Order: sequence, then C-alpha cells, then structure tokens
Amino acid sequence: MNALSLETAILSNDRNKLIILDQTLLPNEVKYLELSTPESIWEAIYKLRVRGAPAIGVAAAYGIYVITKQLQTESMEEFAAYFRKEKEYLDSSRPTAVNLSWALNRMEKVLDENLSRLSVPQMKDRLGEEADAIREEDIAISRNIGKYGFGLLHHGDGILTHCNAGTLATAKYGTALAPIYVALENGWKDLRVYCDETRPLLQGARLSAFEMQTAGVDTTLICDNMASITMKRGLINIVFVGADRVAANGDFANKIGTSGVAILARYYGIPFYVAAPTSTIDMSLASGDLIPIEERKPEEVTEMWYAHRMAPEGVKVCNPAFDVTDHSLVTGIITDKGIAYPPFDKAFEAMGIGK
Ligand code: MRU
Repeated sequence: MNALSLETAILSNDRNKLIILDQTLLPNEVKYLELSTPESIWEAIYKLRVRGAPAIGVAAAYGIYVITKQLQTESMEEFAAYFRKEKEYLDSSRPTAVNLSWALNRMEKVLDENLSRLSVPQMKDRLGEEADAIREEDIAISRNIGKYGFGLLHHGDGILTHCNAGTLATAKYGTALAPIYVALENGWKDLRVYCDETRPLLQGARLSAFEMQTAGVDTTLICDNMASITMKRGLINIVFVGADRVAANGDFANKIGTSGVAILARYYGIPFYVAAPTSTIDMSLASGDLIPIEERKPEEVTEMWYAHRMAPEGVKVCNPAFDVTDHSLVTGIITDKGIAYPPFDKAFEAMGIGK
C-alpha cells in the first residue's frame, strides 16, 4: 500500500455523495465515508476527517455541490438562496485555511455568472464540473510545486517537515512533500525525511510518517521538541512545510509549532521553505497579524490519544491550531508558478498573484 493510492475527497460514481478518507483513523485503518448532508460534511471538515488546506477546498467544493443538487426546485431564486445559506454554513467549519472560502467563493462565482443563463438542472451540472476542475487543478498544482521544490534538493539531503502537507492534505501529491515524490520518480533513493510528530493532533506521526514510509522513503519520526537536537546534529539540510494562509507580505499561518521550527532553522542556518498553491496566498491581508487563528477544544491536549487523562481536571488549556511565521524567517515560498523569494509582496506581484 502506498498513500499516493488513497483519495482524500472525491465524488461517488453516481455523483450524489462526497467520499472522503477518514484521516482520523490513520495509520491504523483505511476507511472511506460517504457524505451527503450539510451536517456530516461540516463535521468531517471540523473534526479533521478531511484536512489540509487544499483538500479542505476540494471537499468543500464537492460538498456544496452534493448538498445543493438535492434541492428539488425549478426556481433559480430558491436554489441560489439555498446555495448561499449552505455555503456560509460550510465556510464556518474552519477559519484559518483560506482554501475553504476560496473554493466556496469560486463555486458561488459560477452560480452568480450563470443565474440568468441556466436552468436549475443545468446549474447543478455546471457546479459539478467546477468542483471537478478544482480537484483536477489541485493535482496539477501539486505536481508543479513538486517540480520546483525538487530543484532545491541534493542527493542525501535530510528534510524536516512539520504537520502533514503531503498527498493526504491535497487531491494528490501534496505541497511540502510533493518534491519528495518527484525525487522518487527520478529514481532518488537517498533522501531522508524527518517528521515532527505535531502535537496535539499528531498529523506528522499519523499521516506524514505513514505517507513517507509507505512511499519507500527513509523516514524518521521525532517529537516536536527534538527538532533542535536533530538540526544541531547536522541531520537536516532543508525544511519544507505547508501553509494554510499566506499574507501579502509573506507571513504565513501553518500548523501550530511551525514558527518555532522556522526560528530554529534560522539559528542553525538551515534553509526554510514554505510550499503552497497560489490559492493559499491571501493578498487581501497585508500581514500575518490579520490571519484568524483557530482555537480548538482543550480535550485534544489533555486526553486525546492517551489511555488516561494526562492533565489535572480543570487546568486551563490553550490550544491554538495554527501559528504565524514571520516572513523574515522564510527563505522562499514554493508555489505552482515558481519560487517566490523576498521581498514577497514584489515577488507575488511579478507572478501575477492576486490579479
Ligand atoms: O489542521 P490541519 O491538519 O488541517 O492542518 C494542516 C496544515 O497545517 C498543513 O500544513 C496545511 O494545511 C498545508 S496542506 C498542503
């Protein structure tokens, strides 16, 4: 089994259900869920059954399609009102990854542009096509990121990654891990990947380590607090991480702990790269201070994964799911349109991002 053969978010053959791989069960169980109600799709995104910024975008696009196609009406007015209500609901499932609202806005644009041109059945088909396009484009985007990132690698490199920005976080291939898949395709067998376990939800241990190991990569799992000694021992040549939202100045939000890795990388003189599709770049936000940070339930820190509770009852818990890394710590941002180097605002402009 190779994680690349798994599908994060697709449609059922009859196109009536969203099918997602339940990532909360990995690496122990590979189970797909068939979803069609607004509540079940919202819950799957909120609970991280489907997660990773681009995969959330694909799931939301298919989600709004399968939800709205169930509405029996000939009235476009009624259909559009229902679409907007359910779009807003899905958009409330997670706040930080901009791909969620990006994908839903792209679906709404299709609605707006065809309101007076299409019948309701035609509109439903058109929305389905758009969701397919979002998924297919995401695969092509990840391939491009992989090719650009591969150009940064040298034989024998040790690569540190945080959280999971691999095939499980996208429609296929991933962002931060895509260069490693491209290296494998080119016959490279000597890369070493270090996965931070990524407390509290363990995306590094459960997902990245699983992905890399099943792909046949030399994979080492470390606890988050082992990154420093691993760097100090000279085992890391480059850091690749993903992003949930990149601001116009290059500040970016990613899984909690990422900013600490960036600070360590700067201290040890290790290049630190962010890999993200251009859909993750939010030019409407001038800096990372404006990125909304998701706060999650205390139980994820005190109880989850443990046989017994591991913290005193009633203790205050702080559980931000993401942090923002300052652009000054970023060597480059690997996008599907090329690698952006500082100053990032100018680089994004030159790439035509946000136009
Ligand atoms: O909470 P998660 O698991 O959705 O967080 C995922 C990340 O932080 C990823 O690094 C990011 O979404 C990029 S995925 C290509």
